[in-house]
Amino acid sequence: MPSKPKIPKPHKIPVSKLPKPPIPSGLTRVPKPGTTRDDVTVGDVAAEGGTGVVAWIDERTAGSGFLRGFLFRKVPKGTNWWYTLGSATMFAFISQAVTGVFLAMYYTPDPVQAYESVRNINNEVFLGEFVHGMHKWGATVMTVLVFVHMARTFVFGAYKYPRELNWVVGVLLLMMTMMMGFTGYLLPFDQRSFWATVVGVNLNGTGPIIGPYLADFLRAGSDFTATTLSRFYAIHMMLVPGLIGALIGVHLYLVAKLGTSAPPWLKSKLPDEEKKKV
Ligand code: HEM
Repeated sequence: MPSKPKIPKPHKIPVSKLPKPPIPSGLTRVPKPGTTRDDVTVGDVAAEGGTGVVAWIDERTAGSGFLRGFLFRKVPKGTNWWYTLGSATMFAFISQAVTGVFLAMYYTPDPVQAYESVRNINNEVFLGEFVHGMHKWGATVMTVLVFVHMARTFVFGAYKYPRELNWVVGVLLLMMTMMMGFTGYLLPFDQRSFWATVVGVNLNGTGPIIGPYLADFLRAGSDFTATTLSRFYAIHMMLVPGLIGALIGVHLYLVAKLGTSAPPWLKSKLPDEEKKKV
């Protein structure tokens, strides 16, 4: 019977004799002509660390192709400042989301404590009044911007073929934006916000067929109770922002896919069959 080869126990292997593990290929730099790998210093590798990380992610997501197509897409001749209103609306939404997160850290959606928690934000919390002011005025800014952006797309005829679906998504975004304003108004829970919401919900209740159901849903029952405030808070900070985020995703996908429309005064110079394509 052949004798078994003797395998040294792991702790008996002389460590100093082990070969060095190879540097992962992602961390080695291709040497410049006339130099060798040994000339590459740790500093050189560290300097390219950021690029390496981005390249690592890109290799696994192919995200750069999408980003390049999205950010460097060609826009029609005559594109002007009116075309920035959609991005301005989006910026206003992001600002609302960020300031809203900080407000949520201190706000209490409870009928007894809500007013006091807002007073606390304004008077005690570091930069609280500033962030609250940004959120409050930002709501108006976003609402104005969304209307002006809609007016721009309407006046420029951007709702026509092939962008009808983007118009429909836009209408949903408009409704969600109004919903944000409506549900946010109750949260400070002072006399004005309470009674304005009572009027608003009653108005909803007079709508045909779904009106009464909608009012009951908003009130969380037939009366205004503590649950009404929690319901408005949940709709305001989770449901509607989530929907807006998803709808903006679809809206931007369609903008990137279809490209933006040319200004109408340029279209008029095109032959009839070409007009349909822009
Ligand atoms: C939260 C709300 C909204 C955001 C963040 C948003 C964002 C954008 C952005 C970034 C663009 C591309 C650049 C531009 O043309 O401005 C765009 C285009 C467009 N949006 Fe909106 N939008 C919103 C609401 C609306 C509304 C309410 C409508 C109409 C009811 C609408 C209809 C359109 C149309 C038709 C286009 C294509 C414009 C073109 O091809 O020239 N959007 N949107």
